[in-house]
Amino acid sequence: MSDKTSYEVTDGIAVITIDNPPVNAMSAAVRKSCWDAIDKLAADASAGAAVLICAGRTFIAGADITEFDKPVEDPWLPDLVEKLEASEKLIVAAVHGTALGGGLETAMGCHYRCALPGARVGLPEVNLGLVPGATGTQRLPRLAGVRKALDIMTSGRPIGAEEGLEAGIIDKLIDGDLRAGALAYARELLDTHAPLKRVSQLEVAAGGIDDEFFSEYLQGLSRKARGFFAPLQIVKCVQAALNESYRDALKTERRLFDECKASSHSQAQRHLFFAEREVAKIPDVPKNTPVREINRVAVIGAGTMGGGIAMNFVNAGIPVTVLEVDQAGLDRGLGVIRKNYAVAVDKGRMTQAQLQQAMGMIAPTTDYADVASADLVVEAVFETMQIKKHVFTKLDEVCKQGAILASNTSSLDLDEIAAVTNRPQDVIGLHFFAPAKVMKLLEIVRGEKTAGEVIATAMATAKKIRKVGVLVGVCFGFVGNRMFFPYIREAQLMMLEGIPPERVDQVVYDWGMAMGPHAVMDLSGLDVFYKLNNEWQDRPDDPVYCRMINVLSEMGRLGQKTGAGTYRYEGRKAVPDAEVMEIARREAQALGVQQIEVSDEGIIERLLYSMINEGARVLEEGIAIRPGDIDVIFVNGYGMPRYRGGPMKYADMVGLDKVYAAINKYRDRYGDLWWTPAPLLKQLAEEGRSFREWNENRR
Ligand code: 3HC
Ligand code: NAI
Repeated sequence: MSDKTSYEVTDGIAVITIDNPPVNAMSAAVRKSCWDAIDKLAADASAGAAVLICAGRTFIAGADITEFDKPVEDPWLPDLVEKLEASEKLIVAAVHGTALGGGLETAMGCHYRCALPGARVGLPEVNLGLVPGATGTQRLPRLAGVRKALDIMTSGRPIGAEEGLEAGIIDKLIDGDLRAGALAYARELLDTHAPLKRVSQLEVAAGGIDDEFFSEYLQGLSRKARGFFAPLQIVKCVQAALNESYRDALKTERRLFDECKASSHSQAQRHLFFAEREVAKIPDVPKNTPVREINRVAVIGAGTMGGGIAMNFVNAGIPVTVLEVDQAGLDRGLGVIRKNYAVAVDKGRMTQAQLQQAMGMIAPTTDYADVASADLVVEAVFETMQIKKHVFTKLDEVCKQGAILASNTSSLDLDEIAAVTNRPQDVIGLHFFAPAKVMKLLEIVRGEKTAGEVIATAMATAKKIRKVGVLVGVCFGFVGNRMFFPYIREAQLMMLEGIPPERVDQVVYDWGMAMGPHAVMDLSGLDVFYKLNNEWQDRPDDPVYCRMINVLSEMGRLGQKTGAGTYRYEGRKAVPDAEVMEIARREAQALGVQQIEVSDEGIIERLLYSMINEGARVLEEGIAIRPGDIDVIFVNGYGMPRYRGGPMKYADMVGLDKVYAAINKYRDRYGDLWWTPAPLLKQLAEEGRSFREWNENRR
């Protein structure tokens, strides 16, 4: 065998143990050694049955995703699963941790499955843009029924062992030691002459499942998983389970799996799987960097952001002191928090008692002395340098040594804020995104003097409050907003060029973004963009730049909150407004902006490529550590669909030569000011390389 799989016999039962840290992924070496172990079992007269178990923290977490871009080595996982099932000696899978994807498929190839109560099972391939490809789409409906199997596979969400037991996926829960329990279970099955339960030979229960069921299911998916390819393929696999023989349906599964694997969606989603893990790795902040304890947090300012930020910590079980300028500010802020929790109670996501408990974890104050003992302070006051400096001076005076002082600023110079304190090493940016209680992204802004320990603590804290923390450097707009500005700039210019905002928004929505740029601006408030644009100190002089934001803001059309912005609002429904296009025409005339025709593709190019060009600069300047970090920012904070992979992966998939050529085309049309290609983009395009290759080769 190999060091990946061991084989030993205890009282007539073989224990086959897979040991491939960290998560026992089914690599080629594991598959091979497991294959040999099954052969050994068949030939071993001393063993009448076997237990398949894993060493380390979890059962098999799936196929080895790093092998997906390489040619597949024998034995294939589906063949291994079939071989397990075909064994003439009974095999019991013993599950702890998570049996996911190819892991659960392997377990379903065994004749029985037992699990620890804390274990979880699932087929999360959909998150990688795939269908389960090792007989899972055929086995799960046979065990759990069509509906349950569809829900598990299209959502990708693992279920607990108890639920697995109820669904028929797990046969027995084991309390205590898994190995001993599984051995006893195998012995019991052997002694009672339990049949070899081969899942492939079970019938798929078709009761109540007809064409109408599938069309309704697909309709639901078109809302929940808009634009994604893999969920639709999963439905086809399940239909095959009902309509084809097991053997034919496996061929269908293989074909649909291969289609998925080759798709841009899967490439994008696999990229994000690794990118979201890589963001945690910071080259000069090693894994063993000490982390400070965060047991008490203070939030300064209980406005739109402060309230949401406080809720994040409370939800993670960390008590929060909230400081406002006066009692009225506190009442307003805490009122909003309470209302938000009340909505969760109404929706059944929380009990009244939990609401009380959550509110009990918030200590309101107007006195800085009350924040003195906080381990972490997050400032979320008005976006004005002078006020921020005032707050940080106070914090420096009162906070205990070792406290981390964070700012939620979205644009101000963090180093300038840190400089008013005597502890710039403890100052960091924690840039939450609105609404702070919902958005997954947390940009962690590293100042010039921020200590490694403070960065490590911020990254760990992000995880604790279930955010995706991405470390970025200081510049105007950091990474996300800095790259979002060109996107907004182009959407704004298109209005002057006579392209209706509703068309731009529709094209962008169809491309997969959660909302179009104009709808986003109306939601955030045009005044927010107005203010940001005017605060950008070295903004190039261009009268056309975001002209409509200025005009509409000055008219008091600030977006949804005033009932009109770029759109007019009937309740929350956005209605295109002819008056706005009339204003845009007048402005265009005054500024000498030509009216143009543009294709849908042209709209996407201008919005995305301007953003990507800025992304290349962000990388050159070291503001983002890796292209993947930028991608993680955009899918977690800006509503970019995961199947596009984020702006930098999208650029790689389009081809940097094509992106570069298009940018040059726009440079010819619009001039150098906004469309000069970033030197890194130019270089990579000319060398025929991608951002990914650039990133890998500089290590
Ligand atoms: N293949 C290769 N590497 C994997 C992996 C896999 N299936 N699953 C996890 N890893 C790696 C991670 O990249 C990470 O590497 P790093 O330390 O170098 O960054 C390391 O294992 C630890 O992973 P996590 O940081 O995610 O550890 P957690 O403890 O937080 O989570 C987990 C563990 C729940 C198992 C999580 O890793 C996970 O969800 N893994 C992926 C599960 C999955 O998608 N399985 C399906 C694979 S596709 C498949 O099976 C196709 C089949 O149908 C043919
Ligand atoms: P807001 O205006 O809703 O709230 C600010 C709160 O701070 C107010 O309640 C105000 O009373 C309080 N405040 C002002 N001065 C104070 C002081 N000296 N001490 C204590 N409290 C004080 O503002 P919002 O939108 O919550 O923004 C806060 C910060 O978050 C800003 O830096 C902003 O740039 C940033 N941000 C805002 C986002 C948004 O979408 N609103 C997104 C990301 C960051």
